[in-house]
Amino acid sequence: MMQRKSNKEIGLALLAIGFMLATVMPAFAGSQGSATPRPLAPVPPIPANGILLPNAQKDNVTTPAKVELGAMLMFDGRLSGDGSTPCAACHRPEYAWSQPDDLSFGYPGTLHFRAGQTVLNNIHLNKYFWDGRSLSLEAQVGAAGFGQESNNVSAQMAEARMRQVPVYVKMMQEIFGEPPTWDNAARAVAAFERTLNTDPKDVPFDRYMNGDRTAMTEQQIKGMKLFEGKAGCIQCHDGMLMTNQDFHNLGLPRNEAFDEDPLRQISIRYRSKAFGILNYDEVDEDKGLYFSTHRPDDIHKWRTAQLRELKWTPPYMHNGVFFDLEEVVDFYNVGGGPNLDGGAALAGKKDPLMKPLNLTDDEKAALVAFLMALSSDEMPGKNYKIPRIPPDGIMTATGALVALPEKVTSKKK
Ligand code: HEC
Ligand code: HEC
Repeated sequence: MMQRKSNKEIGLALLAIGFMLATVMPAFAGSQGSATPRPLAPVPPIPANGILLPNAQKDNVTTPAKVELGAMLMFDGRLSGDGSTPCAACHRPEYAWSQPDDLSFGYPGTLHFRAGQTVLNNIHLNKYFWDGRSLSLEAQVGAAGFGQESNNVSAQMAEARMRQVPVYVKMMQEIFGEPPTWDNAARAVAAFERTLNTDPKDVPFDRYMNGDRTAMTEQQIKGMKLFEGKAGCIQCHDGMLMTNQDFHNLGLPRNEAFDEDPLRQISIRYRSKAFGILNYDEVDEDKGLYFSTHRPDDIHKWRTAQLRELKWTPPYMHNGVFFDLEEVVDFYNVGGGPNLDGGAALAGKKDPLMKPLNLTDDEKAALVAFLMALSSDEMPGKNYKIPRIPPDGIMTATGALVALPEKVTSKKK
């Protein structure tokens, strides 16, 4: 029997990761929207093999074989502590690679304190999570894999399990030239994620930008002009994914679901401790970028969200506090939440770009219509065929690893 890694060990590992991140983060910590926004742009076309070029991942070039392996691992419970919670339990193709809850569920016994995120279009991001704390997709796989509210597995445990699966041993050997390791599994999962992208042929906005002037309605075009003009959204939501990937405090309201749930509050204290917050037992809310940088100015700052596929990924914001885009636009229209300006609650200073917009009802509706035009006509992932999860093997007398018949080991169809 394999020995389960104790919570204390996992906690210590997380603590170490926390400290590492804390020292890395200030280098790129948020400034408040100074650069000139880039123009809005369509996403690149998807090639026949799904792999977007040019491939910028020097140490992890995306290949079809790696992508195939990564897909299997993303859906395989072996990469989760008790086998129950693979990545795809929360990044579900049938929810546009996200999940429908306002606050995510968690690894058994825990609940998460943030909303899920889609992994679509992540190839174009350079920092990950609502607070941007992971700086590559490969590193992100580690953060999710070892995270107590997500997969809650250790590298050793996942490696030991993968090494018992003949299909993985063979694929890893062919792709990476060595037996299964966590790092290579992370590379494969990241490679797979890089193939999950919005197809510009499916999106009214992209079709419009690529020359089909009938692809957006009059109302959507009006909404786009407001987005770039009077409503000022482009100051933070620019470029191809409509995000400057910078950090901003919008003064968002709390989600009552968090306040009512002790398990989510325990998770936030645990996260605070793991990230080296000294009075972690007093932390009663999600402080965003501050957890990584420990700078009071960064309290409640979040990475600007991409605005693609919103139609398929409600609710919205890091705490899922808005259930539809009308609510989001109403929130921006009044200039966001109150400016709590540090104070006793240390609630952080609201971004100066957040100002009342004085949009009419027609203008608000146009803005919502434009946001909808940034989504695929059909939900991406809807027709995704979930890969077959390979069975365990047994060691024969000659030392060869032979696959067990699937019905013995696998609950999968
Ligand atoms: C129990 C649910 C759960 C599991 C399991 C899970 N995730 Fe997530 N994922 C989330 C939540 C919630 C967030 C946002 C968390 C945050 O910001 O701290 C997230 C964020 C992400 C992001 C960031 C997207 C962005 O826009 O920055 C990526 C990428 C991702 N997950 C991939 C993975 C991978 C790969 C795995 C498996 C190793 C995984 N997730 C396992 C719930 C989960
Ligand atoms: C000051 C910068 C800034 C401005 C201006 C801004 N946003 Fe945002 N936006 C953000 C940040 C940061 C987030 C993520 C906040 C969070 O999750 O806590 C976000 C999140 C969102 C989301 C939620 C996305 C999701 O997946 O949950 C939507 C929708 C959105 N913004 C639309 C708009 C619109 C429309 C405008 C213009 C009226 C606008 N934003 C103006 C910074 C900005």
